[in-house]
Amino acid sequence: MRLILFGPPGCGKGTQAQLLCREFKTAHLSTGGMLREAVSNGTEIGLRAKEIMECGALVPDDVVVGIISERLDRPECGYGFILDGFPRTVVQAESLDKLLREKGLKIDRVVEIKVTDELLIERISGRFSCSNCGASYHDRFKQAKQGNVCDVCGGTGFTRREDDKETTVRERLNNYHAQTAPLLPYYHSKGLLAPVDGMANIEEVTAAIRRILDVL
Ligand code: AP5
Repeated sequence: MRLILFGPPGCGKGTQAQLLCREFKTAHLSTGGMLREAVSNGTEIGLRAKEIMECGALVPDDVVVGIISERLDRPECGYGFILDGFPRTVVQAESLDKLLREKGLKIDRVVEIKVTDELLIERISGRFSCSNCGASYHDRFKQAKQGNVCDVCGGTGFTRREDDKETTVRERLNNYHAQTAPLLPYYHSKGLLAPVDGMANIEEVTAAIRRILDVL
């Protein structure tokens, strides 16, 4: 299975990717996650990306395409992958097509998770994640079962993202509408686009995506 989870910041791409990758044993390729790791490790890419991410802008195409190209060659992608947050521009989508063509692979579906802007702000401002395994939670919508203990790994430390402040979130949303949403007709014209209602609860969204995967 090779899937793209597509949608604005906070629509639930990461949440669904984590659940589906656990179930289907596929690789989770989150460019945001990889970039945050590079920032925290102080690598050359991280130093280049840090300020751009903090102001809610997009990291240059060549940087993210380079990261994805390297990841696609790793053995963990042999059973398929879920792309989360990539591609985000037409240049990235065309580069992905070229990379996959060279490897004799193709994307099975692009699942668009549809959520209104008002709800996105609420989702992002309540989000936090496990510092150890990255499992995602929400103050209202997805609390850990035992208070301050991660459901997945038992970790007890949690973090909130630097770019989740409201002004930065609005900038990320503007960038989504200007640079990323134009990819929807691109994938629609290829017959790959499958929309799901992202306003439903987490389990219902997972079930809707499973129904799309069932007919592949
Ligand atoms: P990235 O990390 O990709 O962030 P994003 O796309 O803005 O998406 P988010 O991670 O904020 O949201 P999500 O859709 O994963 O939602 P989540 O599941 O967490 O990118 C960060 C930055 O990196 C970018 O701004 C850019 O600078 C750079 N970058 C990354 N990729 C790039 C690229 N390709 N090109 C250039 N730059 C790039 O859910 C949100 C919250 O809601 C959680 O708390 C969750 O528990 C809750 N929730 C989820 N689903 C539901 C539901 N159905 N009901 C109720 N609550 C829910």
